[in-house]
Amino acid sequence: MPNDMNKPPSRRGFLDLILALGTFITTVAVAIPGLMYLWPAAKGGGPDKVEVEGASNMAPGQGKTIQVGSQAVVVVRHRGGFKAYSAVCTHLGCLVKWEQSSKSFLCPCHAAVFDENGKVVSGPPPAPLPEFVVKEIGDKVFVSAA
Ligand code: FES
Repeated sequence: MPNDMNKPPSRRGFLDLILALGTFITTVAVAIPGLMYLWPAAKGGGPDKVEVEGASNMAPGQGKTIQVGSQAVVVVRHRGGFKAYSAVCTHLGCLVKWEQSSKSFLCPCHAAVFDENGKVVSGPPPAPLPEFVVKEIGDKVFVSAA
């Protein structure tokens, strides 16, 4: 009975090994970014209760985007106080921007418009912008998830 272990590797066997290694590396290189896209993002980011820096210097009608936990949040100063809404459009997740001149949130992706209370005025979003809890303590303003 011949012993295959003593034979030198054949050229074909070497090429098969290289081909298998290349296929494996290509599969891993494609699979990892795909899984990272599909896998839910790890909860991270900043703290769940955030002080709005410079809130006392914001003029009525002015807004700013902050991060609360892992979420982008737009804080707007109205005449009666501060309000905060998720900056993530409820259509496909683009970030909305506060437009002081029209007192509305605009989504650049599909031209959606939300009013100053986060309600859908026009466009494809199926739901209003989720509201965040705002607490004013003295001249400090804190925003947290509901
Ligand atoms: S993602 Fe905002 S309107 Fe489509």
